[in-house]
Formats: sequence, C-alpha cells, structure tokens
Amino acid sequence: MPKVRSFEIPTVMKHGLGAIQTLADEAKALGMKRPLVVTDGGIVKAGLVERVTAPLKAGGLDFAVFDRVVPNPPIAIVDEGADVYRRERCDGVIGFGGGSSMDTAKSIGVVAANGGSILNYEWADPQPIKQRIPPTICIPTTAGTGSEVTLWAVITDPKRKIKFNVGGTAAIGAWVALIDPELTLGLPPAVTAATGMDALAHAIECYTCAYAQPLPDSTALLAMEYVAKHLRVAFAQGANVEARYGMSMAAMLGALAYGTESAGAAHAMSQSAGGVHDVPHGALTARVLGPVMEFNYLGEPAKFARIAQALGEDIRGLSVWDAAEKAVEAVYRLTEEVEIPTLQEMGFQEEEIPHLAEIAFADPQTIGNPRDLSKASYVKIWQRTFEIGAH
Ligand SMILES: NC(=O)c1ccc[n+]([C@@H]2O[C@H](COP(=O)([O-])OP(=O)(O)OC[C@H]3O[C@@H](n4cnc5c(N)ncnc54)[C@H](O)[C@@H]3O)[C@@H](O)[C@H]2O)c1
Ligand SMILES: [Fe+2]
Repeated sequence: MPKVRSFEIPTVMKHGLGAIQTLADEAKALGMKRPLVVTDGGIVKAGLVERVTAPLKAGGLDFAVFDRVVPNPPIAIVDEGADVYRRERCDGVIGFGGGSSMDTAKSIGVVAANGGSILNYEWADPQPIKQRIPPTICIPTTAGTGSEVTLWAVITDPKRKIKFNVGGTAAIGAWVALIDPELTLGLPPAVTAATGMDALAHAIECYTCAYAQPLPDSTALLAMEYVAKHLRVAFAQGANVEARYGMSMAAMLGALAYGTESAGAAHAMSQSAGGVHDVPHGALTARVLGPVMEFNYLGEPAKFARIAQALGEDIRGLSVWDAAEKAVEAVYRLTEEVEIPTLQEMGFQEEEIPHLAEIAFADPQTIGNPRDLSKASYVKIWQRTFEIGAH
C-alpha cells in the first residue's frame, strides 16, 4: 500500500485568451506597488515585453525591469537580479517568458526572502528555503516547463557544469499563474516542439515514478492526451489558437503532476547534461525520453499501456506488454515528427557517455525512476540515444 502522501500547490491559476489584461489587477490584489519584471533578451527581441508593461502602465503601477535572463540561467544572473530587486526597492516579482525567466523570477524571490546567494538553496534535506517568496506572478510565453505552477526552479552552476534544483516546497511556488496562450502564438516551431515534448516528459515521468498518486496521475494523463492532440498542430500551424490553448493547458497539467516531487531518469539525464552543453532543455529531454521509456516500461507495464491509450494508440486486443511497447513507439514517432534535433546535432559526442552517465546517476531525480538504475544503465540509455541519432 502507498505511504502517506500529500499534494500541495499554493498557486492560483488564471488562464484564457486575454488573461494578461488582468495583470495590473492581480498585481494590486497581491499588494504590489513596485514589482520587478523578470524576463530575457529573446522576449525583448520578440517584442513581447510591452505585453506586460502596457497593462501595468494602464493600471497605474510603477515597476522595474530586469531583462538579463538567459536560457538555462546561471547562479550569477539570479544573484544579480536579486541585487536589482533590493536596489530598486521592489515588493513583488513578475516572471515573464519561458522556464528560464520564470525560474529566475522565482529564484530571485528565494534570495530576496531568505538572503545570500541562490547557490545556498540547492534542494537538500533539511529544506534550506525557510521563507516564502514575495508576491510573484508567473506568465509563461512557452508551453512546456509549467514553471508557473511547479515548486521548482532549475539553475545552472557553471563551476560544477551541472544544473541543480531549488524548491520542492510550496514556499517557492508562484502566487498567481497568468496563462495566456495568445503569448505563445509567435513561438518558433523548434521551440514549440521542444517545450511541448518537455510537457509530455513531465507527465510521463511523474505518472510512472515511485511518487505517483491519484491526483497528479489524473493531470498527467490529461496532459498526455492534450499533447497527443495539439502538439503536431501547434508545431505545423503556429497561429492555431485552439492548438496553442491546448498546449498551454498541457504544460500546466503536466507540471501539476510534479506535486512536491520531481521527475525521473529522462530529467536526471537532461538536467545534468544541460550543464555540460548549453542546449534547449526541452529538446534534450525529448531526445532521451524515448530511450528512457524503452528502458523503463518493464517496471510499470500497466501504466505504460495506459500511456499508449492516452497518446491515442489503439491497444485493443493487445497483451499488456505489447500495449506498453506502443507507448514507447508513439513517443519515438512524435519526437521525429516534430523534428527534435539528435544528440549529435546538439553537439554531444559518444566519448562523453561515461561522464554523462555518472552525472545523471548523481542527479536526485534518479530516485523514484520506475526501473532500478545504475551507472551502467545510464551508459546503456545514452548509447541507445546516440544510436538513434546516427540513423
Ligand atoms: N521549474 C520547473 O519546474 C522546470 C521544469 C522544466 C524545465 N525547467 C527549466 O526551464 C528552462 C527551459 O525553459 P523553456 O523551455 O521554456 O525555454 P527558455 O525559457 O529557455 O526559452 C527558450 C527561448 O525561447 C525564447 N522565447 C520564449 N518565449 C517566446 C515567444 N513567445 N516568442 C519567441 N521567443 C520566445 C526565449 O527568449 C529563449 O531564447 C530550462 O532551464 C529548464 O531546466 C524548469
Ligand atoms: Fe522539463
């Protein structure tokens, strides 16, 4: 029988086309008088920042902007943002962008509320985060990480060449998630594909991991159905509002599947390897997801058969083993259809396998994977991922 489990999420989720128009009211309701808008150069370049600053100005709210976030944000950027927060005498944070900007926003909040450097708050037992982050609104412009509702932030440590997790406590959760799919209409196809596959990976890993429990299972399964229905269309037709809305919801649902826990081997691999080569998190996670599932399905055959069903596969009349394999095939097929780059195209080399296996094994997300893992297992999975890229 399962042990005692809890599920906690401190975030109000407000979503729909035009949700961004309610930003000033939401900020004021949280008591913000001078929020810090945290975003990245890509968002500025895409001309999206006005989507946040215009409603704030219209609502008569004063604000400051920190737009120095980069993809896979490093410790130094978070600490710099926290300095700006203090210097500008801000009283709240608005994270605007993909996972990188939202994670930085939440992490700036951690440092603002708890002091020191974000490096002091790497996840550990006992939990180093003591104080809740200041009022924070997260507004996603990608549909993937779901950072707007997760209790995590992922930060790069350039010295150790790894990415580490901060969170696992409600104290880091955004106070409000404003999810407006209109903001994702201009996402380039490659970013749509990578981030959408990340949402799928969250759902599949959380659904099959040892921490699974009924409530997040339900959001995970629906996230898989939404990705199966909407990702190809969003990739092929960027301005398709229905597909974009479906993917925004898929990201939110997939991320809710985390609860207070983390993911599995695919994330252990992509997160640790993401500190070795600075590549898009979603693309790297997508690349290892199929090989990880191929390795894992032996441990949870019934759950993998259910995943096949959620992904739209016809499993009638199949044995549970054949049905479980269909889930693996479906993910491999989707990965190719949305043109996820290979490991080789992302700049990885086979000589790196021993190191990649070692750091994946050291990642805390290895615990809870549906099949027992050793360093040798990771070597095998990395080899398989390279093999696929060689075709
Ligand atoms: N907190 C969590 O629970 C969690 C979960 C998974 C991943 N992550 C982390 O999130 C980060 C990845 O986030 P991501 O995949 O959303 O990508 P990202 O935030 O790194 O953004 C990728 C690129 O897309 C651009 N972009 C974003 N939205 C755009 C838009 N609407 N139009 C045009 N360009 C746009 C950005 O400027 C950036 O250059 C990684 O660091 C990853 O480790 C966090
Ligand atoms: Fe992810």
